[in-house]
Amino acid sequence: MASRAGKLLVGVNLKMYMDREQTLSWLDAAVTGLGSINSDDVELFLLPSAPLISDCIERTSASLLAIGAQNISAHDSGAFTGEISPQLLAQMGCEYALIGHHERRTLFGESNDVISQKIAAGNRNNLIPIVCIGEISKEDKSAAVEVKTQIRSAVKEQKNLKKLVIAYEPTWAIGVDQPASAEHINKMCSLIRTELEDMNIQNFRILYGGSAGEGLFELISQTCDGLFLGRRSHNPQTYISIVQECISIKAANL
Ligand code: PGA
Repeated sequence: MASRAGKLLVGVNLKMYMDREQTLSWLDAAVTGLGSINSDDVELFLLPSAPLISDCIERTSASLLAIGAQNISAHDSGAFTGEISPQLLAQMGCEYALIGHHERRTLFGESNDVISQKIAAGNRNNLIPIVCIGEISKEDKSAAVEVKTQIRSAVKEQKNLKKLVIAYEPTWAIGVDQPASAEHINKMCSLIRTELEDMNIQNFRILYGGSAGEGLFELISQTCDGLFLGRRSHNPQTYISIVQECISIKAANL
């Protein structure tokens, strides 16, 4: 099978795990460790907690790490107390926006409809939407139905989608010991790719997330454009070695 054409992309979602000091020291170690990595080989993004976005943008201005938000409002401005404006994020120098993470869907009641509006808001403000797609069911047939429904709902109303990242994250593989099996990931990521191509969506990349870590990308690099990391990236040295591993695998596939 031919390797994927999309440039390698590796992202980190810090969720709300780290305090300010931990986040900034992770960032300093990551920026130093990534120093010798070439921007032709990989794109990298970090999603810190919202109150630290500005600090992180300042500290990464001369590095490969782009900064994004873990959540955005569907609205640019107005009477939406407590919401995070995608317009302001873009003005601050944010480049990515995570949309529809499983925790947002389940803990904060985000529906497919809201997610679709947030994708439009990100796109409108030149933030690259990273859209989380993932099934609850462990059974192949119903998983495929769930994933197709989420993909179609996410993109069907979108106009002029400039760039799109899909983070495929089966919900049962988040926060556990092991990622989903490579066989399952490959099957579902191929399905997502076919759906997007059928809907004439261009300029998309697909990441796998859900207990992702070292040793995984090698098994899924034919169907995925990179990894979306959570807990396995908390040690900055492990993070750097995962990035380096992904770069070598991608280069070997070309
Ligand atoms: P995890 O998180 O790698 O810690 O399971 C992944 C995610 O929820 O994006």
